[in-house]
Order: sequence, then C-alpha cells, then structure tokens
Amino acid sequence: METERLQLLPWRAGDEWLLEPLATDPLVMRYITGGAPMTAEQIHGFVDRQVALYAELGLCRWRLELKETRETIGFAGVGRLTGMEELEIGWWLAPVHWGRGYATEAGQAALRDAFARCGLASVISITRPENEASQRVMQRIGLRNQGRRVHAGLEHVVYTTTREEWLGANSDGSGSGG
Ligand SMILES: CC(C)(COP(=O)(O)OP(=O)(O)OC[C@H]1O[C@@H](n2cnc3c(N)ncnc32)[C@H](O)[C@@H]1OP(=O)(O)O)[C@@H](O)C(=O)NCCC(=O)NCCS
Repeated sequence: METERLQLLPWRAGDEWLLEPLATDPLVMRYITGGAPMTAEQIHGFVDRQVALYAELGLCRWRLELKETRETIGFAGVGRLTGMEELEIGWWLAPVHWGRGYATEAGQAALRDAFARCGLASVISITRPENEASQRVMQRIGLRNQGRRVHAGLEHVVYTTTREEWLGANSDGSGSGG
C-alpha cells in the first residue's frame, strides 16, 4: 500500500533493527512508557505480533518507509493492545519526521484499508490525555472522542469510529475523514 510520500509495508521476522531506534528514543516513548526504552525482548515481541496479525487479518501496524529515501520512519496502523478487545489504530514516528503530516497521511490510508479492504467493523485509538499530537491525528482522520478509560493502570483518552460512520463520511472516496 502506498500514499503520496510513504509506503506502508508489513513487518518481517528480523526487522527489529528498524524499530529499535524509535522504541529506545525517550521522545517517542514519552507517552507510552513514560520515556523508558523498550527492551530487545519487547521489540522482538512487537515485530512478532505484527507478523502474526498480518497473517491472520491481512493488516498490522504498517512499517512506514519514506518513498524518497527508503528510510523507515515509523509505523501506523491497526494492532492489538494487551487486555483490550477492540483493535486499536496507532502511530509512532521518529522525532526528526514529526510535524510534516506523515502520521495523518499514513493513518488515513491504514484506516481506509482496514474498513474498505479488510472489512473491520470498528476501531479505537487510545492515548494519554497529554498527547495532543496523537489526538490531532485521530481527529484529522475522522475518529470521535468516546471518553476515557484506564489502560495499563493509566488514564487514556479513547477515540473510535465504525465502518458505517467512516464510509458515510468518506462517500467521496477521499478518505480524509473530515
Ligand atoms: C503522534 C505522532 C505520530 C504525530 O506525528 P506527526 O507527523 O507530527 O503528525 P502530523 O504531522 O500528521 O499531525 C500532527 C498534528 O498534531 C499537531 N501537533 C503536533 N505536535 C503537537 C503538540 N505538541 N501539541 C499539540 N498539537 C501538536 C500538529 O500541528 C498537527 O495538527 P494539524 O494538522 O492540525 O496542524 C508523533 O508525535 C509521535 O510519533 N509521537 C511519539 C509516539 C506517540 O506518542 N504515538 C502515539 C501513541 S498513542
């Protein structure tokens, strides 16, 4: 799958080295682990889960490659969170690439794919209330605020949309979500 500036790719076994720079960057991890780096085992677990999810549902938290340089700049897409039933759409980017609309561009494409090709009924997206950038991406791709819930012992905001809502808002095919 591709967008104007990005390729959205499945993860392969052995791709841990592509995630490691993000997962050990305190800026990226600020609202996820409080800034703590992920261990090698956790990074391996992430890649393993994406490979398994792609085999199961045909989607995952896609690895984002910048078309211009072929550099891996992060991920965006649907995944599973421990202890949560719903599928969750999320994004992490290397800080040097923040603020250029990449998360919105990739999030829109991943959401369109999840509903239009994979036929998911709904997705949620969660983040810490302080994470305004992530909530902006959620709003920009058409998710609505559903309130708060505690996840992993911490308060999170929850955004959501259903396939019907999303198709209704994107009947022009743009996928912009409003
Ligand atoms: C969340 C994240 C992926 C956003 O990436 P990005 O490329 O900057 O996103 P975009 O450029 O597509 O859009 C970001 C939006 O948030 C806004 N924004 C960025 N930083 C902000 C901040 N500190 N406060 C408020 N808004 C902010 C931008 O202005 C933009 O909104 P706009 O389009 O209305 O101008 C990036 O900040 C990141 O990787 N953070 C670390 C990982 C993370 O926390 N992921 C979410 C976990 S739930």
